[in-house]
Amino acid sequence: MIVTVTSYKGGVGKTTTAIHLAAYFQRLAPTLLVDGDGIRSATKWSQRGNGQGLPFKVTSAAQMAKHIRDYQHIVTLSWVKSNGSESQVF
Ligand SMILES: Nc1ncnc2c1ncn2[C@@H]1O[C@H](COP(=O)(O)OP(=O)(O)OP(=O)(O)O)[C@@H](O)[C@H]1O
Ligand SMILES: [Mg+2]
Repeated sequence: MIVTVTSYKGGVGKTTTAIHLAAYFQRLAPTLLVDGDGIRSATKWSQRGNGQGLPFKVTSAAQMAKHIRDYQHIVTLSWVKSNGSESQVF
């Protein structure tokens, strides 16, 4: 399953939603969260506790191709500018 969490708006729960979805999918099968949000909150949270901060793999959009074949579920997280330019990475 591939799920994308995105919004034009900040502070609406994108990161929280993506992290909970990824945690749920990880209980079913290996799951990759692709952090395409410029603020990188999910990446920072995953780095807590010596990199054990979250129970699934988090990667950047730039590194996504390197990991994607190893995971059954993919959750992508991004913030889209009103002209759509940020969404082009996906
Ligand atoms: N379902 C929810 N119910 C209540 N509060 C929530 C919910 N989801 C997120 N929040 C709270 O809303 C705030 C913003 O959430 P979050 O950081 O996930 O948003 P975001 O869209 O990723 O923000 P940003 O644009 O800054 O990246 C946080 O304080 C979070 O705890
Ligand atoms: Mg966020």
